Amino acid sequence: MKVTLDVNGTEHAVEVSPWKRLLDVLREDLRLTGTKEGCGEGECGACTVMLDGEAVNSCLVAIGQCDRRAVTTVEGLAKGDVLHAVQRALVACGGAQCGICTPGIAVCAAHVVDRGLVVGRDDASARAQVRELLAGNICRCTGYQLIVDAIVTAAREVGR
Ligand code: FES
Ligand code: FES
Repeated sequence: MKVTLDVNGTEHAVEVSPWKRLLDVLREDLRLTGTKEGCGEGECGACTVMLDGEAVNSCLVAIGQCDRRAVTTVEGLAKGDVLHAVQRALVACGGAQCGICTPGIAVCAAHVVDRGLVVGRDDASARAQVRELLAGNICRCTGYQLIVDAIVTAAREVGR
């Protein structure tokens, strides 16, 4: 099947099985290896990308569902040399963790921040909200505190 898709603003055409996972097309066919595989079964969020602006687990999406659709991967969050507010905040707050979980967290957080979904008025409610919104992104080895700090920081910056 020939599939045409826009990835990070560039159009690509791939000839693949319609059942091939979006995750594998991104990594193998398009060489966009920023998107990572963790569990491979929709549980960890490592493979998160945006599909037509919605955060999805790319390990659960068949490429046959993606024809003429737009995908944003972690490689597409920065605009040229300018990092997304979430990426800047992850660096500033020390929330950039390992290379497996961080890309998916960055994409999901960018989705949440760009949509203005963090509306908690005080610190505690904003933090609780971020934890809930990012509940699908799992780190298997350390904590979430600095990630939450970063996303609250980015949400405030973008919402200003
Ligand atoms: S690799 Fe897709 S959710 Fe874990
Ligand atoms: S899985 Fe990435 S730091 Fe834990």
